[in-house]
Amino acid sequence: MRRLEVGIVGTGYVGLVTGACLAHLGHSVVCVDIDREKVESLSRGEVPIYEPGLEEVVGGALRQERISFTTDLPATVERVDVLFIAVSTPPGEDGAADLSNVASVAREIGASLARRGEKSPLVVVNKSTVPVGSGDYVSMLIEEGAEGRDVSYYVVSNPEFLREGSAVYDTLFPDRIVIGTDSREASEAMRELYAPIIEQSFPTSYDPRPKAAVPFIVTDLASAEMIKYAANAFLATKISFINEVAAICDLVGADVTNVAHGIGLDSRIGSRFLSAGIGWGGSCFPKDVSALRSIAREYDYESTILDAVVAVNDRQLKQVVSKLQRELHTLKGKRVALLGLTFKPNTDDMREAPSLKIARTLDSLGARVVGYDPVATGPASEAVPQMKVVTDPYAALSGAHAAVVVTEWDEVRNLDPKQVAGLMAAPKLVVDGRNVLDPASVEERGLLYRGFGRG
Ligand SMILES: NC(=O)c1ccc[n+]([C@@H]2O[C@H](COP(=O)([O-])OP(=O)(O)OC[C@H]3O[C@@H](n4cnc5c(N)ncnc54)[C@H](O)[C@@H]3O)[C@@H](O)[C@H]2O)c1
Repeated sequence: MRRLEVGIVGTGYVGLVTGACLAHLGHSVVCVDIDREKVESLSRGEVPIYEPGLEEVVGGALRQERISFTTDLPATVERVDVLFIAVSTPPGEDGAADLSNVASVAREIGASLARRGEKSPLVVVNKSTVPVGSGDYVSMLIEEGAEGRDVSYYVVSNPEFLREGSAVYDTLFPDRIVIGTDSREASEAMRELYAPIIEQSFPTSYDPRPKAAVPFIVTDLASAEMIKYAANAFLATKISFINEVAAICDLVGADVTNVAHGIGLDSRIGSRFLSAGIGWGGSCFPKDVSALRSIAREYDYESTILDAVVAVNDRQLKQVVSKLQRELHTLKGKRVALLGLTFKPNTDDMREAPSLKIARTLDSLGARVVGYDPVATGPASEAVPQMKVVTDPYAALSGAHAAVVVTEWDEVRNLDPKQVAGLMAAPKLVVDGRNVLDPASVEERGLLYRGFGRG
């Protein structure tokens, strides 16, 4: 394996994991961020996000001097072979992706390219999720930044599919690597960079190894950019679909968990992403579905399926409130415990977490909301100051008239129903927003169980 000099701009969930894993594979990595404090703490080996296994990989790479952190993008442009852009692309007001971070990085790359002298063309890799056509936009901004100087570079799209909560695993053992470029040199450089993953030749403690080899797919730029949006939109659609089925199950007296199991065994359908409940949230699905709808609108195309996918998801959140109202009647003065606050387990990411919307709605209806999360207590109370946030689930449940399972952390799944029943106030309602509890064993202990689509 040839050791490449790699730069990564943006040290968030995607950039930091990518950088640390590439260093782990043997490359020499420089991570760049505008956040000076973050750069300083990362240089000391302090990882500012909760991501299983990440601290170990960053620590190992630091010890082997294969990773460093800086705010100096021009010096990084000067020295690396491959430069990733992995900055945030949050949703703008109209739902379209806000590309201002990507744009400022691209201009600065352009302004610094001339410092490379005779070095081979820089491969600029866009890993941020960006609308179709952004590759060309990045090239345009690089040229703008270069101000007429003769500079050589390639722009490549390399969408990221990692899941927060298992980001390190997903980076080392991905289902596929997608590269969008028209340049053979650039795709070969990317193949070289990812060779240890493609060939699964790096040492691992997994026995057996989870993957034998990883497909490496090269497409044109626009298709690679579209693959990312289509993948997330499809997954969101799968969840909204099963939620629609769950609503009908409730009407006809069927149990959606049985239905999902029965259809999921069909290999054309697959069993994953078929859990009915509160619906999808987080930093990716809402923004990516909204960006794809916005792209469709730009071309005056009505994205009927995607519109329905969002409508169903919005309805799921309302259902939490209506399930509480049906049993508690007025919510004024009622104590409601939200169990799990992050948008999914094993992450501290609170962006677009369903818990925040639920907490705000319940608060506006007069309920006293107490939230529990094993990790994201600080960000949750910052986001909804009216919600009291505790670190002990039983403290959240004490005196609560109702509890909502919002995030299926193990700490929530494994709560002792007997102890819970002893602490709660009548009617001791448990709304299982993730359908992860066993209704019979919960009800046996005197709790009132309400799931989603369970008849
Ligand atoms: N988080 C995920 O699970 C995930 C998965 C796949 C794709 N993505 C995409 O990857 C991109 C990054 O997402 P993330 O979750 O890692 O974001 P993040 O918010 O966690 O991190 C972004 C980082 O970029 C830095 N940054 C912003 N502007 C900068 C600039 N001009 N120069 C240098 N650094 C800058 C920020 O300080 C921050 O550290 C987004 O486009 C996202 O849609 C995210």
